[in-house]
Amino acid sequence: MAQRPRVRVNQALTHTNDYGAAQCMRSLAHRSGHCSYTTHTSYCHEHTMSQPISHIEWFRTASPYIYAHRQKTFVIALGDATLSNAALVGIAGDLTLLHALGVRLVLIHGNTGELQVTSSTKIGAPVLTVENFPQYLAEVGATTQSLLAHLSMGPLSAAIRSSELTAVSGNFVRGKPLGVLEGIDQQQVGAVRSIHAEAINRHLDSQALVIVPPVGYSMSGEAFGLDPTLLAQAVAKELKADKLIYFIDQNGLEDASNRLISEITRTELSPENWPNLAPVLTAAQAITKEGTTRCHLINYQRDGALLEELFTRGGCGTQIVQHRSSTLRPAQPEDISGILALVKPLEAEGVLVKRSRELIESELGNFWVVDQEDTIIACAALYPFDGAGEIACLATDPEYRDLDHGEALLSTLIASAQSQGMANVFVLTTQTAHWFLERGFKQAEVSALPSEKQTLYNWQRNAKVYLRPVITP
Ligand SMILES: CC(C)(COP(=O)(O)OP(=O)(O)OC[C@H]1O[C@@H](n2cnc3c(N)ncnc32)[C@H](O)[C@@H]1OP(=O)(O)O)[C@@H](O)C(=O)NCCC(=O)NCCS
Repeated sequence: MAQRPRVRVNQALTHTNDYGAAQCMRSLAHRSGHCSYTTHTSYCHEHTMSQPISHIEWFRTASPYIYAHRQKTFVIALGDATLSNAALVGIAGDLTLLHALGVRLVLIHGNTGELQVTSSTKIGAPVLTVENFPQYLAEVGATTQSLLAHLSMGPLSAAIRSSELTAVSGNFVRGKPLGVLEGIDQQQVGAVRSIHAEAINRHLDSQALVIVPPVGYSMSGEAFGLDPTLLAQAVAKELKADKLIYFIDQNGLEDASNRLISEITRTELSPENWPNLAPVLTAAQAITKEGTTRCHLINYQRDGALLEELFTRGGCGTQIVQHRSSTLRPAQPEDISGILALVKPLEAEGVLVKRSRELIESELGNFWVVDQEDTIIACAALYPFDGAGEIACLATDPEYRDLDHGEALLSTLIASAQSQGMANVFVLTTQTAHWFLERGFKQAEVSALPSEKQTLYNWQRNAKVYLRPVITP
């Protein structure tokens, strides 16, 4: 399946924001405690300069993200540097807030003690030996407890009672010994063998936050220390997480001119260009190859970075994706070939009414397209008819279906109908009735159509009519 767009922003949204986003989000949480929002979206991901905006305005811009992130699974890797930093208080508060907003959270943590398992420790003398392993287990245990204590503090606003968040930790990871590398027995350093995803999901389903310590347990009753970076990747893969978020000690990746790279595809990414982040970047490349997970790199020292990254259009870190984000926009003359390529197979199947190039050219002002990396992957049109609008030519490239492109186009057309003062939108369809029924349309008689459309109705095609008020009562 193709990648789910990261940013799903209402077409009307033009603002981006920065640090203020986190403050707004926290103060809104303070005021409301719980949230339930329904806003639909289009997408783009430009890293533009931020402007100060009011709380209310900001809340409107954030609401699509709140909606988009609900019930999504985010795996968040907290390395030892993050856990040891004073910023952890703020991060824990923001995690609690995310949890309150309905995000399914799985935290992978490192070890704040002396003994660290990282990819680079795999060759050479073992970091974890039979002798020092009890110390490692004690340090990891203390780290888990410290994290639990931080999460029990609740968000910074203190409006969401800490008792509403239950965090659980356990033996979710089956481990195996890393074995003998280049002739050296790695002793208690382990690798992930499997993840008990069902057990994690059970806890997430019951609204718990899950903490996975960097320890794997073997069938023989032994325990092994794990690299938290690789563990986070393995957990995200097994859970088919929507996001894997790594906290790092810089504002994402920067290009040669020291500008933040807001988004990069896995194929564009060369981990060797950022040697200090190579293990994280390699893990990011691996997880994004799976196609369902997006990977984010954010700065643990930046207050509110988690909220800023997740609830603002520009974000504040770097996201690593399989495919670039899409843009939903009005069609331009250069899109005509793309639209034709998209709709021709559906016309041949009789799903869409035939339209010539000339007709599309002359009606281009009615069309909207979803453009991904200069390819038109979805389109739709809104034709005005005497106070109502016909939704037509709605199509998504089969490679990109089930990613809400259709939904985003429909929302955009309805918003456009509203701004043009239309009371209703209608659609004539032969094979897609239920898609529209599930989106607030009701079947109607041909006689309910605007009179001009009635005269054009093709009785031989016998398409069914579905109608929906522009403003839902
Ligand atoms: C209908 C269509 C535009 C939806 O595009 P999309 O980008 O995949 O839309 P979304 O991601 O917003 O919606 C996907 C959901 O619609 C469902 N769906 C797709 N086609 C459907 C149909 N014919 N009837 C009912 N549901 C349908 C999918 O199963 C998916 O459901 P899920 O979310 O429960 O898994 C696309 O399937 C398409 O191009 N179909 C052929 C052209 C067509 O029929 N156009 C309508 C002309 S009136």
